Amino acid sequence: MRVITSAADVARLLDAERSAGRTVGLVPTMGALHHGHRSLVERAVDECDVVTVSIFVNPLQFGDPSDLERYPRSLDADTAIAAAAGASVVFAPSVSDMYPGFPAPVATSVHVAGLGERWEGASRPGHFAGVATVVAKLFSLAGRCRAYFGEKDFQQLAVVRRMVVDLSMPVEVVPCPTVREPDGLAASSRNVRLSATGRIAARCLHEALAAGCRLVSSGVRDSAAVGHAMADMGAAEPAAVLDYAVAVDADGLQVPDELLGDVRLLVAATVDGVRLIDNTGCSVPPNRPPGPRRAPRPSEQATMERGALI
Ligand code: PAF
Repeated sequence: MRVITSAADVARLLDAERSAGRTVGLVPTMGALHHGHRSLVERAVDECDVVTVSIFVNPLQFGDPSDLERYPRSLDADTAIAAAAGASVVFAPSVSDMYPGFPAPVATSVHVAGLGERWEGASRPGHFAGVATVVAKLFSLAGRCRAYFGEKDFQQLAVVRRMVVDLSMPVEVVPCPTVREPDGLAASSRNVRLSATGRIAARCLHEALAAGCRLVSSGVRDSAAVGHAMADMGAAEPAAVLDYAVAVDADGLQVPDELLGDVRLLVAATVDGVRLIDNTGCSVPPNRPPGPRRAPRPSEQATMERGALI
């Protein structure tokens, strides 16, 4: 496996691979690789001839400088994980290679309006412009490829897909299922910053999603009722500060009055000062006889089983 730090070199190498008839897979990451990333690389290796894992802690997507500073960096361990998963190339550029002149503002950036401005975008202004800008740059260096993204960052996935369509990029975006820890917590590079008690408290995120999913599957169509039921579950955990818990349509990530088709449940909370996000998909059963359109009353809710994600 090769480690390349120059943007020009990686672009040249991947062009040569394509000219030789090989397909290119790209797994964009910010490093601190865990088994969620590993599953992306393995999938890419199964489906592409040459797999590049990019490792770049992108300063443009951090609003809070201390969050950027605290972001874990572990290039040697990451390189070993990428190699073990079968990657052919690790692309680990410097900030100055990606953004010459940084910290002077980057003049050209990509904004995905609407989709990039709600939920995470509202709580972290500028975040998705930073993500879209770096991903556009990585796509431009990689050229025609398949690019692998985890569904754990569902809004990021939606933003990237939209950018690819709007800008006609020659990239096939491949969504990959969220990988979970045995206790249900979605695998994330931020999890290492949770204390033992924080880790237990963090369960409220996927428990809220499980509760929301049960409501949708049982026929509740009222998005606000589903959102409130999830928020109540989050609020019941004193160590978690809930940001949002919503039931949205899976394409536009907007809250419809009535849930129909592919629904995505999104939740975000801070535990131990660590921002955690999670989501799950559930489809509204078609042609179901009219079911309850309201959320259960608290007495009914209390009898609902708290459990793992469906
Ligand atoms: O998901 C991430 O790790 C980052 O947001 C990404 C897509 C690599 C862009 O920096």
